[in-house]
Order: sequence, then C-alpha cells, then structure tokens
Amino acid sequence: MGPTRKIAVVTGANRGIGFETCRQLARGGMKVILAARDEAKGRVAAQRLRDEGLDVDFARLDVTDGDSVREFARFVRKEYGRVDVLVNNAGVMIDQRGSFLPGMPGVFKTKIETVRETMETNVYGALRVTQALRPLLPETGDGARVINVSSGMGQLSEMNGGYAGYRISKTGLNALTRIFADELKGTAIRVNSICPGWVRTDMGGPKAERTPEQGADTIVWLATMPVAPTGGFFKDRKAIPW
Ligand SMILES: NC(=O)c1ccc[n+]([C@@H]2O[C@H](COP(=O)([O-])OP(=O)(O)OC[C@H]3O[C@@H](n4cnc5c(N)ncnc54)[C@H](OP(=O)(O)O)[C@@H]3O)[C@@H](O)[C@H]2O)c1
Repeated sequence: MGPTRKIAVVTGANRGIGFETCRQLARGGMKVILAARDEAKGRVAAQRLRDEGLDVDFARLDVTDGDSVREFARFVRKEYGRVDVLVNNAGVMIDQRGSFLPGMPGVFKTKIETVRETMETNVYGALRVTQALRPLLPETGDGARVINVSSGMGQLSEMNGGYAGYRISKTGLNALTRIFADELKGTAIRVNSICPGWVRTDMGGPKAERTPEQGADTIVWLATMPVAPTGGFFKDRKAIPW
C-alpha cells in the first residue's frame, strides 16, 4: 500500500479476533478505529492497545442498529474522511450448542427467531456497515479492502448439519462478498471472505486449536498485501472453495 497512513475500521473489536486484528493492523502502521457496541468495553479495549503504543481510537457501533451505523459513518467521515480497510468481524453464534448431536432436535426444531437474530448481526450487520461506509472507500489509487470474517461452517462445499442459523448466516455473508466484489468491478476496492479457523475466543471456546493471533493472520494479510484479489474466500492465506 502507498505512503499515506491508512485508516482501518474493525467491527466487534472489543475482544477476540476483532481485537487482535486491531492490534496487528496498528502494529503495521495503520490508524485503527476499534468499533464496539458496548462503550465501556470498547474504551477499555482501545486503551489497552494505546498502552502498547498503538494508534487506536474507539467508536461506538452496534451493527444491528441502523441509527448507530449512520451515526458511526458520520463520525468516521468527519474525523477521518475515508476508510482504507473495513473488517466486518462482528458476529454471533446463538444456535443451541450440540443441537445436531444424536437425539437432539437440529434444524427441524431450530427456532426461526434464532436464524433471524443471527442474520441480523452476521449478514444484515455487514451489509448495513458496508453500505454506510461505501462513500468513504477510495475507488482509485491503492483503493480499499473489505474483509468479511466468515467461517468454514458457511461453505456449501463442506455443509453439514447443526448450527443452522450460524451456517446459513455465513453462507449469506459469503454471497454478499461475491455481490459486493462484482458490483465494485472496475474500482480498486477489493472484497473477500476469510475463515479464521477454530479460534480460542468466547465464541470458539477454550478447546479451540488456534490463538486469536493465528485467527487474525489471513485478515491482516489481505488488508496489507500490495495487490489484493477480489471476490475470493481464504483460509491460511490460501483460496478455499465456497
Ligand atoms: N472463534 C472461532 O472459532 C471462529 C471461527 C470462524 C469464524 N469466526 C468469526 O470470527 C468473528 C469474530 O468472532 P470471535 O471468535 O472473536 O468471537 P467473540 O469473541 O464472541 O467476539 C464477537 C464480537 O462481536 C461483537 N458483536 C456481536 N454482536 C454485535 C453487534 N450487534 N454490534 C457490534 N458488535 C457485535 C461482540 O461484542 P460484545 O462483546 O458486545 O458481545 C464481540 O466483540 C465472528 O464473525 C465469528 O463468526 C470465529
């Protein structure tokens, strides 16, 4: 990327993979806006990174709330003027754990409300935020990078039972990646999905095999590589099937 200081936005960044992504982008020299829905948690998280000597600001953003998203976009436009990197990381997994195990109800008993609530954050949230920040993404020169934090659980090629709401939402997010990338053809805005692997966070749980550092790696790789692909799905810095 070019010599000017890049501005990065990471959603759902007060903990987990989002928090670590902020740290790594800031270590790489970007100015990072750590966005979180809970003001107290977000401020503490941003201060932690500033205490490490990193250039990180907090801004409030609930991706499920249209007013919050509009206010966030206004704030970013006024304070920073553009967004070079957008990481749509905020996500929830609210399917009953183990619901696909033998004797458990699985998709046939999944509450529609569970699917709807998951979509609200994981798909409509990413759509809302990307729509609102679209005017701030530079179309020429170095352009911009949009990285949607998806999951292997959304891969149609690997689709299994269980966690129906979460799986459907991540497949939907992957569709959004393809639609954004196609509509942005001819611009220098690059849009990709990534799978971080199974990561030790509140969502992934303590038995997960990867650290948040490892989970953030492919996000940061796509955000900082000099010439980026678009419309792809990546894990461990390699393209994977949809
Ligand atoms: N961990 C894994 O193994 C794994 C695997 C594949 C994909 N992923 C994906 O990676 C991303 C990050 O997950 P994680 O493992 O770091 O999970 P996490 O520790 O549970 O963090 C999720 C983050 O999203 C935020 N969030 C939830 N709803 C939000 C909303 N409406 N507005 C703004 N922020 C919201 C949470 O904020 P609060 O603190 O306020 O709740 C939290 O900061 C997610 O998209 C997840 O689906 C994770």
